[in-house]
Amino acid sequence: MTVTALLSATLQARFASILDDTPQDITVVETQNPKFGDYQCNAAMGLAKRLGKIPRELAKAVVEAGPMPTGIAGMEVAGPGFINIFLDDNWILQKTSHIGNDPTSGIPQQGEGKTVIIDYSSPNVAKPMHIGHIRSTIIGNAIDRMYRSLGYHVIADNHIGDWGTQFGILIMGYRKFLDKDRLKQAPIEELERIYVTSYERARNDDDWMDACRAELVKLQKGDPENRSLWQTFIEISLGEFEKIYQRLDVHFDLIRGESFYHNDLADVISTLREQALAEESEGALIVRLEDEGLPVCIVQKRDGGYNYATTDVATVQSREAEFHPERIIYVTDERQQLHFKQFFAIARKTGCQSRLEHVWFGLMRLPEATFSTRQGNVIKLEALLDEAERRAYDMVSELNPDMPEPERKEVARAVGIGAVKYADLSQNPQTLITFTWDKALALDGNSGPYLQYAYARIASLLDKYSAREGTPISDQTSLQLTDPRERALCIQILRFPDVVTRAAAAYRPSVIADYLYTLSQTYSSFYQNVPCLKADPGVRESRVRLCAITATILKRGLNILGIETPARI
Ligand code: ARG
Repeated sequence: MTVTALLSATLQARFASILDDTPQDITVVETQNPKFGDYQCNAAMGLAKRLGKIPRELAKAVVEAGPMPTGIAGMEVAGPGFINIFLDDNWILQKTSHIGNDPTSGIPQQGEGKTVIIDYSSPNVAKPMHIGHIRSTIIGNAIDRMYRSLGYHVIADNHIGDWGTQFGILIMGYRKFLDKDRLKQAPIEELERIYVTSYERARNDDDWMDACRAELVKLQKGDPENRSLWQTFIEISLGEFEKIYQRLDVHFDLIRGESFYHNDLADVISTLREQALAEESEGALIVRLEDEGLPVCIVQKRDGGYNYATTDVATVQSREAEFHPERIIYVTDERQQLHFKQFFAIARKTGCQSRLEHVWFGLMRLPEATFSTRQGNVIKLEALLDEAERRAYDMVSELNPDMPEPERKEVARAVGIGAVKYADLSQNPQTLITFTWDKALALDGNSGPYLQYAYARIASLLDKYSAREGTPISDQTSLQLTDPRERALCIQILRFPDVVTRAAAAYRPSVIADYLYTLSQTYSSFYQNVPCLKADPGVRESRVRLCAITATILKRGLNILGIETPARI
């Protein structure tokens, strides 16, 4: 159990002992200012209001209801009826030690036996990933890792756009405009180029447009030649996407594109008709969603074609039948909010039981001078990652001029990629953010490299200790509290399981990023003010172990964000 869960249960029992029933919503939160205790409960105010009691008196009765429960050294009433909770030092030490040695770092395994499907990245075939797909990949992967760390069975599903009207246009483009050399050198760019050329032609030339339609129909009917071209497009695209996934250390359990569900679409339509959920309107088939306060959703076009929403309804049904997920999480940019609201509503009407969540994020501005921003926000992720590694290389060379070349390259890779990921993950995803190199690589601010550097410095302190003592610090070393800064550091460490739980519930990797930054600052103030290696024997071992536990938490936290922790920088 996390500390807040434990304290909530304790306080709930105490409230119950003085009231006639057990109140449900007793929450305990972490305090920012130690003046108000280590944790705080403000339930007395709301409860007193409901029960016609005086808040401070209710709070006082709770505080005085009996001896201090396990883990709590003291409680006091503050302000209008807050209960400030002070943890017991021995309990803090015991918990810190447990978190340090626990293989799951104290993260509650609340997901055991539950399946979560996370639909992320999901780029479209024959088009380069745009910034939306890149953010979906990075944010989606962090959510994926958060849920795995909570013990969920996660199915990461890359729902690529591999079906649709673009293929008729593409096939014509391939036949007429393909440049084989370019295809070899820059496959996706060439596919995109022939697509755009063919598309432009279709706009001005009706015969061309008709020919594209005819190719699409042939493909849909299973024409072998068009099928094989379509396969080629998919292979080329996946090959390119895979390079990016490798660099970002992102791996999918499933890559099921829209085409996978294509044969189910007719059934979805007949079910919607049978259940009287869909009706005809001007030749198209629509679902009315007024009751949900949403506009009408077209599920079948006049020409018989299906829509994006239809595919997604089919996808949910297939996922439910095959995997019985407790939850399905979709990660896309903000422009798809209406789409998800609509198809979630339709899915629920057709009996979908899984919890459906759309996690959306805003756009990110990128340094335009560095990248081609052909279509507003299409950037070359590869160029961005290359540049990040180059800049990280310079940084590492400055910090560590003696590092051998192969190691320096490897560290620069981890730092560069980490910087890009962290710049994305540390922000509130729903605000417009601007990516700058200065911020992403700042060694003195809330950045990936800052945290990696903090980790590396602790790692080198631990190495020094091992070298001197001839053995690494034992994980059985007992911890002691001899200084308020040690206590403050332990309190931060205790918060980690709560932070991960909260971040997952809110689908917010930034909650973990903020925490890791605070943790490393708390560590700094401990390390700069309290001697570690130079402390007296006993105290020294305790402090070195505390450093080791801090490193473990930093490493795990960064790992959940998909960021590596090189031992040296
Ligand atoms: N391929 C879509 C796009 O690029 C994103 C798909 C998101 N997932 C989904 N199940 N709709 O816009």
